[in-house]
Amino acid sequence: MDVLPKNDPRLERILITSDEISDRVTSLACEIRAVYGEESDLCIVGILKGASVFMTDLARALCRAGMPGITMVFVRASTYGDTIKETGETVRKVKLDLLGANIRSKNILIVDDILDQGFTLSAIEEKMKQEYPGANIKTCVFLKKNLAHPSDEAAALRRKYQADFTGFEVEDRWVVGYGLDAGECYRELPYIAIANEECFRHG
Ligand code: IMP
Ligand code: MG
Repeated sequence: MDVLPKNDPRLERILITSDEISDRVTSLACEIRAVYGEESDLCIVGILKGASVFMTDLARALCRAGMPGITMVFVRASTYGDTIKETGETVRKVKLDLLGANIRSKNILIVDDILDQGFTLSAIEEKMKQEYPGANIKTCVFLKKNLAHPSDEAAALRRKYQADFTGFEVEDRWVVGYGLDAGECYRELPYIAIANEECFRHG
C-alpha cells in the first residue's frame, strides 16, 4: 500500500497510486503499439530528469506489448530550475541539451513527465523536427495538467502542442513523485502526490 512520508507537511495527499500507474503504463503501451503496429523502428526520447522513471517503465511495457527492438535516448531540458510555477507566470525559457543524441530511427516518440504550460514539449518537438526533418515525430506525456487560468501564451501553446499519448489528466496543482520533483525532492516516490505549493514558493 502507498503511504506518504511521515510528518511531512509539504505533501498534501496521494493523487495516483502506484497500482494505478502500473496499470495505466501497461494500457498506454498497448495504445502506442496499436498506432505503430509491428513497426520496430522506434526511438523513444526521454526528457531528463522528470521523465526518467516513466521512460524506463514505458520501455519495458512496450516490449511486453509486442514492440521489441526500440531504442532509448535521453535528452535534457530544464524549465523551472529548482522553483515551482508562480501564479500569473507567462513565459519560461527552456534550456535544451541533446546530450550527443544521434537518432537513426524514422519514428521518434518524445516522452515527458508532464505537460503543463507547454514550453518544454513545444521546444523539444521543434528541435527534433529541425534535427531530424524526415522523421515521424510523436509525443507522449505521463501527465497532462488541466490549466485553471492559462496565460494567452500557454493557451496558444497547449492548442498547438497536444500530446499524441497521455497517461492521466490531472488538476492544476504541483504534483510530485514517479520522477517529478519539487525543488529536486520526491522523484523517488512510487506514486503521484499533490504538493503544498506554499511550502515551495521562494521569497
Ligand atoms: P511546461 O514547459 O510548462 O509544460 O512544463 C513542463 C516541465 O515542467 C515538465 O517537463 C516538468 O519537468 C516541469 N513541471 C511542470 N509542472 C510540474 C509539476 O506539477 N510537478 C513537477 N514538475 C512539473
Ligand atoms: Mg520535465
